[in-house]
Amino acid sequence: MTTFWSWYVTLLTVGTLLALTWLIFATRKGQRKEATEETVGHAFDGIEEYDNPLPKWWFMLFVATLVFAVGYLVLYPGLGNWKGLMPGYQDANEFASKEKGWTGVHQWEKEMAKAEEQYGPLYAKYAAMPIEEVAKDEKALKMGGRLFASNCSVCHGSDAKGAYGFPNLTDNDWLYGGEAETIKTTIMQGRQAAMPAWKDVIGEAGIKNVAGYVRSLSGLKNPEGVDIAAGQEIFKANCVACHGPEGKGTHAMGAPNLTDKVWLYGSSFAQVQQTLRYGRNGRMPAQEEHLGNDKVHLLAAYVYSLSQKPAQE
Ligand code: HEC
Ligand code: HEC
Repeated sequence: MTTFWSWYVTLLTVGTLLALTWLIFATRKGQRKEATEETVGHAFDGIEEYDNPLPKWWFMLFVATLVFAVGYLVLYPGLGNWKGLMPGYQDANEFASKEKGWTGVHQWEKEMAKAEEQYGPLYAKYAAMPIEEVAKDEKALKMGGRLFASNCSVCHGSDAKGAYGFPNLTDNDWLYGGEAETIKTTIMQGRQAAMPAWKDVIGEAGIKNVAGYVRSLSGLKNPEGVDIAAGQEIFKANCVACHGPEGKGTHAMGAPNLTDKVWLYGSSFAQVQQTLRYGRNGRMPAQEEHLGNDKVHLLAAYVYSLSQKPAQE
């Protein structure tokens, strides 16, 4: 901030505080000292007001806010270029080169550095262990659970059971594979699913029939007029490359098993047709840059542990 604006802000702030102080004492002077039955003489919708002085505690509350404001502005940055008396990094050697004085950013950096110091070695210790071993460690799972809550639950849900378009991570049914290392790769590098749109390839009738066929694989009943045999032919010609000859899916393509009762995008006749008409492109964002290897290692252990328990209904 230039000197001009620094003084501008300072004078305006100090001036306002002085004016408020004057105002509160000046108006108090004009008030009567004792409680009274007299009213001030006006009425709003029949409601009148006694001409009583401000209660003392109320007055003191005003004074307290003014005292607080002065204290705050002395301790923290707020008045132009004034940095405040609150120590920033004067006390922490490793930051001695940084600008002195308190700021929210400095405080955050300091807390992060402290957390890193505290948890860094712990993360490193777990990162050196195989994921399957980490998944048996109570403390590691707690840390992983916390990381999951703050980084993953927005999409996968706080119970990791997913939602429409976001896979359930507890059911031991995997798009990309449930081996510990595969889970870690998924989280590190992210995944991009590519289920093509079939509208222009097989036409509306084809969509209908193949949707019927796919639904029949998991025992669902289809509406009248759906030719499942024709659907099967379309499937053989177009879908086995990714979903496999029996429709059981392939992890390499992230193509789901179509014969189980797990549906990412819904199992109704309308929903399956929608999936086929326009395709689906679920995206799992890569976490390597954001969280780094050690945290992802813990997360992989946490996710891995979720499906090691007997699946819950
Ligand atoms: C922006 C939403 C989003 C966030 C945040 C997110 N995910 Fe995902 N994740 C997805 C989607 C969507 C898929 C499915 C991709 C697909 O359809 O192929 C997925 C897939 C996965 C899979 C693969 C599941 C399988 O069946 O193979 C794992 C494991 C996973 N996520 C773990 C995580 C973890 C751990 C985090 C937190 C670091 C996380 N995800 C954060 C959206 C998200
Ligand atoms: C290029 C590979 C590929 C081909 C070819 C392909 N699919 Fe898919 N399919 C996928 C992928 C990947 C997904 C998962 C999409 C996602 O996670 O967003 C998917 C998802 C689906 C789903 C949704 C399943 C659910 O759980 O909601 C259905 C249904 C489906 N495919 C049917 C078909 C049919 C029928 C064909 C042939 C007409 C076909 N697919 C061809 C890759 C493919």
